Amino acid sequence: MIRFDNVTKKYQDNEIAVNQVNLNIEDGEFFVFIGPSGCGKTTTLKMINRLIPLTTGTIYINEKRISDYNIHELRFDIGYVLQQIALFPHMTIAENIAIVPELKKWDKEKIYNRTTELLEMVGLDPETYRNRKPKELSGGEQQRIGVVRALAADPSIILMDEPFSALDPISRQKLQQDISLLQKKIKKTIVFVTHDMQEALALGDRICLMQDGEIVQCDTPNNILKNPKNDFVRHFLDSGNIAKPHLLPENKQAKDIITSLHLVGKNAPDSPVLNDDAKISDVIVALSKQDAIQIQNEQNEITGVITNADLTKFLANQLEEVGETK
Ligand SMILES: Nc1ncnc2c1ncn2[C@@H]1O[C@H](COP(=O)(O)OP(=O)(O)OP(=O)(O)O)[C@@H](O)[C@H]1O
Ligand SMILES: [Mg+2]
Repeated sequence: MIRFDNVTKKYQDNEIAVNQVNLNIEDGEFFVFIGPSGCGKTTTLKMINRLIPLTTGTIYINEKRISDYNIHELRFDIGYVLQQIALFPHMTIAENIAIVPELKKWDKEKIYNRTTELLEMVGLDPETYRNRKPKELSGGEQQRIGVVRALAADPSIILMDEPFSALDPISRQKLQQDISLLQKKIKKTIVFVTHDMQEALALGDRICLMQDGEIVQCDTPNNILKNPKNDFVRHFLDSGNIAKPHLLPENKQAKDIITSLHLVGKNAPDSPVLNDDAKISDVIVALSKQDAIQIQNEQNEITGVITNADLTKFLANQLEEVGETK
């Protein structure tokens, strides 16, 4: 769908911003660029819709060189969310959203319905917000308008440059979910830039890590997590506070094993006894020396028996609950 063939960008002062990039972004793919500030993400994105001319190499969309497209045709069919919010201050929110639909000469009713639908999608009441000016919205609200404006005329490609960076974590997560669902539903090709590894892993079908204008690793989230190519990639993964598998559910106690696996009433009279508020790690230690342990309550009554097989089963259930076995 979007193919980079040996693409290089040098700005006037001869600094190489993007260096010999080769890429093939598939139709319907959610493709994420990530990397430190200044590594060339925005430059790469802006070359796709010709906001920035490339220096050498070729970019193709559907195997046609972007330079062979009529510039309006190209821009109409590529939604773009800028890194800096860029709503037109003199226009209302509805007018801002309707820019491309107007250019495409949609009729009034269709435009009205579309703006309503898009405002609702990002949790902004259409009646309240439709006629406001951008300065009457918070930064995060303006950013949401920037996002839906890019979707307004149903483009087949959407470029998004750190679209959620000014949002609080909750709105951010909500919008991430919205965009992810939307993309699965309508199968748009989305090229998305972020600094945030968690965001990249949550959204990307593939993630492309850049450093100093070059691609370091480009792969599925799973493969990157499993096989980070070098220390730079590892560092980026670490910086994202990726949830590590919580192998030991430390908030659980022996009695939780008994109740969740219905082990009440079993007996193993010769086995050692552990209190039912013992931590999981204590249960593991006890079971490393014995095949079974008896569990007693506060009144020193035996309530059940845990075997090694039970423990394994309990831990497996816990992992499944937190989604680690997917
Ligand atoms: N108009 C310009 N003229 C000269 N150099 C530029 C221009 N725009 C960007 N650069 C340089 O090109 C390099 C890549 O910039 P780019 O904006 O693509 O980085 P980025 O990865 O998007 O960074 P950030 O995460 O901070 O947005 C940087 O070194 C930057 O200084
Ligand atoms: Mg940028």
